[in-house]
Amino acid sequence: MDYENTLLTDYELLLIEKGNDIKRCTPAELIHQSLIRICKECYCDRICDKEIKRIEHLKALGDIMEGAVHDINNLLSTIAGYVQLSLAMDERPEIMKYLDIINKTALDGRNTIDNIKSYIRGSSSNSKAYYSFDDIVNKCIVMTKYKFKTSAIKENKDLEIDISLNSNALIYGNEYEIRHSLLNIIFNGIDAMGDSGVLTIKTYDKNGKAIVEISDTGKGIDEEDLDRIFDPYYTTKGSTSTGLGLNIVKNVVENHNGRIHIDSKVGKGTKFILSFPILEGGEETAPSIGSGLQRV
Ligand SMILES: Nc1ncnc2c1ncn2[C@@H]1O[C@H](COP(=O)(O)OP(=O)(O)OP(=O)(O)O)[C@@H](O)[C@H]1O
Ligand SMILES: [Mg+2]
Repeated sequence: MDYENTLLTDYELLLIEKGNDIKRCTPAELIHQSLIRICKECYCDRICDKEIKRIEHLKALGDIMEGAVHDINNLLSTIAGYVQLSLAMDERPEIMKYLDIINKTALDGRNTIDNIKSYIRGSSSNSKAYYSFDDIVNKCIVMTKYKFKTSAIKENKDLEIDISLNSNALIYGNEYEIRHSLLNIIFNGIDAMGDSGVLTIKTYDKNGKAIVEISDTGKGIDEEDLDRIFDPYYTTKGSTSTGLGLNIVKNVVENHNGRIHIDSKVGKGTKFILSFPILEGGEETAPSIGSGLQRV
């Protein structure tokens, strides 16, 4: 007699399942079923183990971030505090303008920190209010000019900025988020232009939308890359860039029920067109800011 065969096939065993279901099976089937269960349980344990380690790791990271966020907040408060003191002591218009920009930048930094804090704690701050669209865009331009100035002075670049702000709209939104998004697009434009070029910023109102167009005369974007530029971490600028800029822009615009359109030609330049819904009755309420070509 083939002992092994007889043992594994000629007998019938009763397999009692957890829910008291009774199945008849051969010893071979029993061993097979048992092995599957053992493997499954080990696998589950391994997965659970991995997941627990990941959660512990994230928690540790969250704790470190909380500390860092707290420290950075204090640093920014000190900067903002001293800037405000200096503003009260020095009345030279040029100095006051620069101090004002430092102040706004420090406040923006605190806003970013607040967002990180809310994220760590699992809540999200989304304070929105009514703003003049042109005012928001103009603040970005003021904050951008230093970049043009330093690139002209330190790197001998020949960059011009052409501004034409003609929106009269009020929009409902988070000013910081919108400004931050526009700055991302402006800085991308400056990066794309290299040593010389013109950055054009236009605003106007059309069909119930407040529109801002930001165009550069830079290197342009390949058609196949256009699909990827909004992906998180997609960058062609190496390890110093995060590749998060346009992903943030996309989320902010969506969060404001806005739209983004891009026109780009390799070797010619890129135009980003962002539109936001105008607050009803918000047209023709805000004064227009004006236009002009400026070499910096
Ligand atoms: N105006 C532009 N002209 C040419 N390429 C652009 C332009 N704007 C974006 N890109 C391309 O899209 C990529 C993604 O842009 P995004 O702003 O998300 O990241 P980044 O600028 O590379 O990094 P970060 O914004 O974190 O510094 C860029 O690396 C660049 O290749
Ligand atoms: Mg960028």
